[in-house]
Amino acid sequence: MNEFTVRAHTNIALIKYWGKADVALNIPTTSSLSMTLDQFYTTTSVTFAEQDQLILNGVNTDATRVHQFLEMLRAKHGTFPGVLVTSENHVPTAAGLASSASSFAALTGAMFGLLELPADLTEMSRIARRGSGSASRSVFGNFAVWNKGEDDASSYAESFYDEDIHLSMIVAEISSAQKKMSSTRGMQLAQTAPTYSAWVEKSARQLEEMKNAIRQADIEKIGLIAQDNALGMHEQNRLCVEPFDYFTEDTQRIIAFTQECYKAGLLAFVTIDAGPNVKIITDRATEKVLLAKLRENFPDITFDIAHAGGGLEYL
Ligand code: DP6
Repeated sequence: MNEFTVRAHTNIALIKYWGKADVALNIPTTSSLSMTLDQFYTTTSVTFAEQDQLILNGVNTDATRVHQFLEMLRAKHGTFPGVLVTSENHVPTAAGLASSASSFAALTGAMFGLLELPADLTEMSRIARRGSGSASRSVFGNFAVWNKGEDDASSYAESFYDEDIHLSMIVAEISSAQKKMSSTRGMQLAQTAPTYSAWVEKSARQLEEMKNAIRQADIEKIGLIAQDNALGMHEQNRLCVEPFDYFTEDTQRIIAFTQECYKAGLLAFVTIDAGPNVKIITDRATEKVLLAKLRENFPDITFDIAHAGGGLEYL
């Protein structure tokens, strides 16, 4: 029986995707740029079966989103039987890392194998985008840019800079009792903020500055731009028609602490996605000192370190 297994790593956006120009196709309002991480990944196997089914971390799980994705593939490439999707998620969901990015990137790679589609990374990125926007970037290792494009054909990610520039991310796992707002819903609301179009325009400028900073391996510039872009994204959530906030008190405390560290001369900047958790951007030379300080000041919070990781891997 044909079975294909693929591993994909999650990615963290330094320039965020936070808004859709086309909801059905996941065409974003902004281009985004991310670093794929080495530590956190999803491994997915696919094989034909009687019906679409998802086994996630050994548990039979609601397959609605996977089924919708497979239906999209059937419409595009001709129908095929049901698919048994078996997935192991090595992403601490408590850390608010987007497991949808690594999940849909891994599922895309595995389905390309099963359907014997040509291993064209651009087409894989387009297809992964349909599952979850951020998954378009997890097809690639190191730094990837997702050019927003204007339709299905022109919206895909590509490798931007395939080198490790010694950027480190310290991931703080803050648990939250707060009800989760999905990123799909969160961005839909954020787009109603009166300041949203200004954030979109600024983001386009920041993308170009970010590309230059990465080419120069200038971690301070990278951190300053990423931090401003992420805090601006969260500001839209607070200014929209139904204001909401992913930040908790711990989020605020870690942001304040990180900014104190920067004032004291350490490379330390924050980026935050659709949850309370903070990723601290620093470099390889600073990570140990910073990690020790964070652990000392926040003994109840778990911190992990991640570096740049690779793109899709067939196992
Ligand atoms: C805050 O890719 O999860 O992590 O396309 O609706 O599945 P959907 O959204 P998703 O959004 C990720 C948003 C973000 C920023 C980013 O990764 O760029």
